[in-house]
Amino acid sequence: MPPLLVVNDLHTEFRTGAGLVRAVDGISYTVDPGETVAIVGESGSGKSVSALSVLRLIPDPPGRITQGEIRFAGRDIMQLTDAEMREVRGGDIGMVFQEPMTSLNPVLTIGRQITETLEQHRGMDRAAAHRRAVELLGLVGIADAERRLKQYPHQLSGGMRQRIMIAMAVACDPKLIIADEPTTALDVTIQAQILELMKELTRRLNVALIIITHNLGVVARYANRVNVMYAGRLVESGPAAEVYHNPRHPYTMALLRSVPRLDRPRQERLDPVEGQPPDLTRLDAGCAFRPRCRFAVDVCAMKRPPLEGTGNHLAACFRSHEIEREAGAAA
Ligand SMILES: Nc1ncnc2c1ncn2[C@@H]1O[C@H](COP(=O)(O)OP(=O)(O)OP(=O)(O)O)[C@@H](O)[C@H]1O
Ligand SMILES: [Mg+2]
Repeated sequence: MPPLLVVNDLHTEFRTGAGLVRAVDGISYTVDPGETVAIVGESGSGKSVSALSVLRLIPDPPGRITQGEIRFAGRDIMQLTDAEMREVRGGDIGMVFQEPMTSLNPVLTIGRQITETLEQHRGMDRAAAHRRAVELLGLVGIADAERRLKQYPHQLSGGMRQRIMIAMAVACDPKLIIADEPTTALDVTIQAQILELMKELTRRLNVALIIITHNLGVVARYANRVNVMYAGRLVESGPAAEVYHNPRHPYTMALLRSVPRLDRPRQERLDPVEGQPPDLTRLDAGCAFRPRCRFAVDVCAMKRPPLEGTGNHLAACFRSHEIEREAGAAA
């Protein structure tokens, strides 16, 4: 089966007072139908910009997609008209963002927001849209749907609002959902419930999912594949279990040391990734992670390591083989 989403050599830039920010600097990846792909990386690494580019939601100015190809369900996203793009967003591609309060309209009832989506994207009449809204609330585990649909966003808890966002994301039978930090604003216990719900729904409805997250525990438990971003590029990509257990990039290793591991009986000390993320307006010709990397050698300053490897586990590091050996020995 061909991939559902193909992102090929995507470049997205922002012109800022401080200079040109190459927020996404040549990333390529695919998402298969029904597959869950996680994008992880520190703040500012380009995760959101890469996702917003796929939705063509980059504010222009100051931003622009300058190069690359995005194909979704066989269509060239870059060639679609604005009207066609509005159809795709919320239709074939559902979206869940970090803070539902900013994505939900505060002056419309929950019910009206859901039925509006259904009327707009699926041409349903009010009554059909209402029946579907009731069904959707059941699907995301919200009891007493008729009463909830009459409420406004501020009358619901954070976890409940995120369930509503998920209901809206799946409302029009999307092929893909893009979720950008969908649980970061929630309590830990609620986070787990929301993640379980997304996992269950994407499986049941056979929807592909791109989940952007800081939390590597999410990656291990919920994703099929992981893309690790650093300074606008992919530095590692592979099956989730492989990346989690046998990281091949020093940045991924550092990230893994900085989060609680589910697979370690007793937690060793958690180390934040040392050093500062790079200034994207001042990147040189070498590997962007080099200043923070204890494996760095001369060649790392001369050119960017390409993303390569065996099979489908890729890393952008000149020393990935030695690193893998060391990680294996330490485990
Ligand atoms: N509207 C904008 N104008 C200027 N620069 C921007 C804009 N949006 C994003 N950027 C820059 O693009 C880079 C990547 O940002 P992005 O939001 O994708 O990071 P992120 O990985 O999602 O971080 P976080 O984990 O904090 O959400 C950052 O340097 C950011 O400052
Ligand atoms: Mg972000």
